[in-house]
Amino acid sequence: MAEIKRVQVAIIGAGPSGLLLGQLLHRAGIDNVIVEQRSGEYVLGRIRAGVLEQTTVDLLEEAGVAQRLHEEGLIHDGTQMSFGGRRYEINFRKLTGGKTVTVYGQTEVTRDLMEARQSEGAATIYEAADVSIHHFDSRPVVRFRKDGAKHEIACDFIAGCDGYHGVTRASVPAAAIKTFERVYPFGWLGLLSETPPVSEHLIYCNHPRGFALCSMRSMTRSRYYVQCSLDENAESWTDQMFWDELRRRVDPAAAEALVTGPSIEKSVAQLRSFVAEPMRFGKLFLAGDAAHIVPPTGAKGLNLAASDVRFLARALVEFYRDRSEAGIDHYSARALARIWKAERFSWWMTSLLHRIPDAGEFADRIQRAELDYLFSSVAAQTSLAENYVGLPFQD
Ligand code: FAD
Ligand code: PHB
Repeated sequence: MAEIKRVQVAIIGAGPSGLLLGQLLHRAGIDNVIVEQRSGEYVLGRIRAGVLEQTTVDLLEEAGVAQRLHEEGLIHDGTQMSFGGRRYEINFRKLTGGKTVTVYGQTEVTRDLMEARQSEGAATIYEAADVSIHHFDSRPVVRFRKDGAKHEIACDFIAGCDGYHGVTRASVPAAAIKTFERVYPFGWLGLLSETPPVSEHLIYCNHPRGFALCSMRSMTRSRYYVQCSLDENAESWTDQMFWDELRRRVDPAAAEALVTGPSIEKSVAQLRSFVAEPMRFGKLFLAGDAAHIVPPTGAKGLNLAASDVRFLARALVEFYRDRSEAGIDHYSARALARIWKAERFSWWMTSLLHRIPDAGEFADRIQRAELDYLFSSVAAQTSLAENYVGLPFQD
């Protein structure tokens, strides 16, 4: 016999979207439970994003989980790009009237949110098997199994925060949803190491051998990526092979300054652009990677997840506190307007910086011209900077 529980909002997925939504709702007195298919350690073991927009930092502050972020996060007032052996600087602070980004890993954001949730006694069910959602057009129900027993949660709303491969988007009837997708014909091989970063800035590199990115998690921990083919697997790359390839792709000064060491983690990520429309189906809302994916070149994935959560948390607070459905009615349109701008920017950064297989010489020259234009035009740099630090919210 299934054990039946009732909450106001059932959240599927304990990634950054689910945890942040849960925390904001909990603080607003809205009863919620998070149902996650993996263990907490597994969720924390995924090495992903590293760059937070100011609006994401503000939201984490609102959620009461920004203390360590302020102590340990690194403020970046610009970024660097290398092309043709030279390094160029894009100064966000100057170009945007004072805006910056913060480098603080997704793993740390997740850890801070998990600890806050645990210390406040809000419920998260980890290792939930066979999660399914039902009746989200009327009286929503979530079912799952835990330690062999069947469970059922009845709720007012379901938040689908279960990532690209999750169950919530897949449960929507095909006729009610439209998807847009582009899969890029290359991937990123990433390496994390306990070594000081090569520069105080991130360096995005366009090189004839392929894209490379020098990033960091702290002043003692670095994160590097090299563009690789789609069928690459991380195990076939020794650390030495990775460092050699990275050194070939960065500018000479970075190659000289690069400090190498054993990897802590190596993995391959596919690059994809994806949007599902709409993001609301009756009493089911999609948020974060469940609704959209961007290639990581624009550092937007986690920030977009946070912006969805910002819209959704406000909408649900409005519903329960002010008894107004305006926020939930506008959720999908508001979130999608921001998402498409980030999709455009992430696609543009990806096209600008990668070697595109079989694109041909014409496309190569256009890419070169675009980079020349960027490095000589304040207007072009301002556009990049405005998008990278995050466009203002229009509400
Ligand atoms: P997720 O982090 O995917 O969390 C979804 C959660 O739902 C997971 O914990 C999952 O286990 C759980 N779940 C899935 N299915 C179910 C189910 N059926 N039932 C219950 N729970 C379920 N962004 C950047 O900005 N920079 C980067 O460098 C970067 N690198 C990335 C590398 C990879 C390999 C990936 C996949 C993404 C990367 N991203 C990056 C994107 C960024 O990490 C995501 O946008 C962000 O994690 C989105 O958070 P989310 O909570 O919406 O989804
Ligand atoms: C990262 O540090 O993992 C990172 C930073 C910037 C990106 C993508 C990934 O654009």
